Amino acid sequence: MQKLLSTIIHGDCLIEMKKIPDNSVDLIFADPPYYLQLPKGKRLKRSNGTEIIPVDNDWDSFESYDHYDAFTQAWISECQRILKPTGTFWVIGMYHNIFRVGTIMQNLGMWFLNDVIWVKIDALPNLNGRRFTNNHETLIWSVKNKDCKRYTFNYELMKKLNGGKQMKDTDWIFGLCKGNERLKDENGIKAHPTQKPLKLIQQIVLAASNKGDIVFDPFMGSGTTAIVAEALGRKWLGVERDEKYVQLARNRVRDFSKKKV
Ligand SMILES: C[S@@+](CC[C@H](N)C(=O)[O-])C[C@H]1O[C@@H](n2cnc3c(N)ncnc32)[C@H](O)[C@@H]1O
Repeated sequence: MQKLLSTIIHGDCLIEMKKIPDNSVDLIFADPPYYLQLPKGKRLKRSNGTEIIPVDNDWDSFESYDHYDAFTQAWISECQRILKPTGTFWVIGMYHNIFRVGTIMQNLGMWFLNDVIWVKIDALPNLNGRRFTNNHETLIWSVKNKDCKRYTFNYELMKKLNGGKQMKDTDWIFGLCKGNERLKDENGIKAHPTQKPLKLIQQIVLAASNKGDIVFDPFMGSGTTAIVAEALGRKWLGVERDEKYVQLARNRVRDFSKKKV
């Protein structure tokens, strides 16, 4: 396990997670494919004429719901296996996938603690006016099974961060990842289509882990979880299948570590 720490493993999480021992990880944050089923190549424009880049990547494509569910069951089972009885599992998704993910988790015996809504305060309006704006994502927070009662939750810290009052809100308001935080490629285009805001992951890591704990992310993308874990003195490791994103995330961690010294 030690040699896997502070690394972004290039590979398929279904294979790579097999190398992680049982009951060895304190916190898992997972941001899996959404299976959005958007038509390939369809482009939408904002009112100012700039193009919206949709998530129509290969990593989000599955043949059918059955294939998506089989994939989901396989990676969540592995997460359940590697999670410590004192650890917790966070998964984020949208209305397209989060209900399927939740059903599979419950069928596997995972026990829910809360669902949390990330309210995207600056979400784009619904462009064709045919439905409400999709302005949030849902996080499910769980333990590996019903008997895991001594999980980490930093209640007092959350209270302190909430001005001394119990943090009751499960609606977390954070803007989309923008400005300097958003990684861009050499053409100024988003380097990763679904980069999550640091503040969202920070809230999770602060609430549900302690310094020195091991944080794992099976879908590392642009490396957001690694950066937050590193900044907060947690150990971390993650997996990413796409070589381009592995490089992006490794460079991000390297640049962050250089800034720290
Ligand atoms: C929703 S994104 C994660 C974004 C990430 N949270 C961030 O802030 O950048 C999902 C990522 O999972 C990766 N992925 C998809 N299937 C995978 C698999 N089987 N194993 C590992 N990574 C996978 C994709 O390449 C994509 O980068």
